[in-house]
Amino acid sequence: MMITTCIFDAYGTLFDVAAAARVAAGEPGNEALADLWPALARDWRRKQLEYSWLRAVTGAHADFWQVTQDGLDWALEAAGLAGNVGLRARLMALYRELPAYPEVPAMLSALKQAGTSTAILSNGSPGMLADAVASAGIGDLLDDVLSVETVGVFKPHPSVYDLVGARFGCDRGEVLFVSSNGWDAAAAAGYGFVTAWVNRAGEPVDRMPWRPAHVLGDLAGIPALAEGL
Ligand code: LAC
Repeated sequence: MMITTCIFDAYGTLFDVAAAARVAAGEPGNEALADLWPALARDWRRKQLEYSWLRAVTGAHADFWQVTQDGLDWALEAAGLAGNVGLRARLMALYRELPAYPEVPAMLSALKQAGTSTAILSNGSPGMLADAVASAGIGDLLDDVLSVETVGVFKPHPSVYDLVGARFGCDRGEVLFVSSNGWDAAAAAGYGFVTAWVNRAGEPVDRMPWRPAHVLGDLAGIPALAEGL
């Protein structure tokens, strides 16, 4: 079946989530982060995701902006930086203007030129996603930005993946779903999308009942992959 629609996870896939801690670490007054920032970024991301899953399974939904703050508070405390309100505010502000990975604009342009529909499907709240898309300058290259807030539960709940067919009227097998999150790629494969896992860090594949159909080192190969399927 031909790919008509290419759907992207946002955080970690199109946008570099480690950039917030990395950029803050280079700013005057944040010398405390010089050695700590990689651990802070890792803890922040891990807790943000854990809280999203815990809220999904317990039915205690709060939006991703809240979950992102909660994850940061845990990570700052673990790093011994709990009382640093200025740093906390700066990191949250940076999260709203995360850079896209360098290959993103050309990759999206190539998909558009081939007539493929493109969209984000993300845990992010609409406001966070609008800011990230605007600061990366990729709004014109996306047909839509779909947020889990429409259904009020986080990935990988299947009702989130249902948003794609509802928006684009396509079959699951016509969708190339692209995520750097192994768990998201696995669950999307179980849902019936064709999946590409972007494994920048060379991590082991997630031990889930489903495996991503394709594994790439970055996003540059996505248009050729979509074309060839
Ligand atoms: C997202 C998270 C999972 O953008 O990265 O949905």
